[in-house]
Amino acid sequence: MKLAVIEGDGIGREVIPAALEVLDAFGLELEKVPLELGYLRWERTGTAMSEEDIETIKKCDAVLFGAISTVPDPGYKSILLSIRKELDLYANVRPVKPLPGIVGVTGRNDFDFIIVRENTEGLYSGIEEIGTEISWTKRVVTRKGSERIAEYACQLAKKRSKKLTIVHKSNVLKSDKLFLDVCRQTAGACGVEYNDMLVDSMAYNLMMHPEKYDVVVTTNIFGDILSDMCAALVGSLGLVPSANIGKKYAFFEPVHGSAPDIAGKGISNPLAAIICVKMLLDWMGKPEARIIDDAIADVIQKKIITPDLGGKASTAELGHAVAKYIIQNL
Ligand code: NAD
Ligand code: IPM
Ligand code: MN
Repeated sequence: MKLAVIEGDGIGREVIPAALEVLDAFGLELEKVPLELGYLRWERTGTAMSEEDIETIKKCDAVLFGAISTVPDPGYKSILLSIRKELDLYANVRPVKPLPGIVGVTGRNDFDFIIVRENTEGLYSGIEEIGTEISWTKRVVTRKGSERIAEYACQLAKKRSKKLTIVHKSNVLKSDKLFLDVCRQTAGACGVEYNDMLVDSMAYNLMMHPEKYDVVVTTNIFGDILSDMCAALVGSLGLVPSANIGKKYAFFEPVHGSAPDIAGKGISNPLAAIICVKMLLDWMGKPEARIIDDAIADVIQKKIITPDLGGKASTAELGHAVAKYIIQNL
């Protein structure tokens, strides 16, 4: 098993070392392939990622990624989006689940749902023209792209034996009618109970009744926005992990970005990155991954938490405490 490790920029350089300490606590046979990509590399060399880097990533089985800053240059193409496309990571899976003892803005903890975000098309098509009087971006929805994400979401819903909510804006964006129709057909064919919601109303309902949802499937940009919003439900953007899944590769990254406002202070919350390690181990078929849940519950109970959750622990202290629990209890 070869794991590409991309810390990236800003707090990516803090949360990934903490997550790696947790991964190392499992003592697995695993070759780590560190890659320096992103804004810092671009500043230094003028290139954020080369063709060779992509080839190196393709020779790995999975990727653990921190975050990258967006380069302030209109010609710059996000390397994250390039990797998602190159590896055809079509499903962006973002579980929204409260941690024991931590509540978010609504004060509730009775929910557990997963956002399944289409990850290769929609408004992220990259087909655009930028002008001074008019700029446009083409929103692409394909049957194939919709079918495979709907299929992924339905298989997940079946495992969780609950239901699917299809989120769209087909009242205005007629391209979403194709997405909605394909999701409905796929859910019907898979025998999954489903409903659908317009994205604006879904945002409201997720805040008011998060307990009603199980698997939420949506297009690229809506999944992006809803997942940050839902971080407020669990208490911090530093708690939401994600897995970008394709037929061949898997790429694990926290939902948050490089957080320049806190970067370098050592106070970023590494739990999203640590839960990414759990998702990686689950993907590798390692049942011992579940000890990460116990370890996280233990450190929260001991109040070893970062300032975003009202604590005083540093990123490294929190990562170390989780790793120590695993070493002592595995
Ligand atoms: P952000 O997610 O970096 O930060 C938003 C807010 O949440 C900030 O106040 C930040 O301090 C806080 N926050 C985020 N993660 C946290 C953590 N682990 N612990 C504690 N607090 C945390 O979003 P932004 O500020 O809009 O974006 C900053 C840069 O990151 C931009 O260049 C953006 O393009 C990039 N970005 C990258 C990724 C990625 O690489 N996966 C994702 C989102 C944004
Ligand atoms: C995310 C990020 C990315 C996205 C950006 C950094 C390209 O916000 O992973 O949620 O929009 O997908
Ligand atoms: Mn985002």
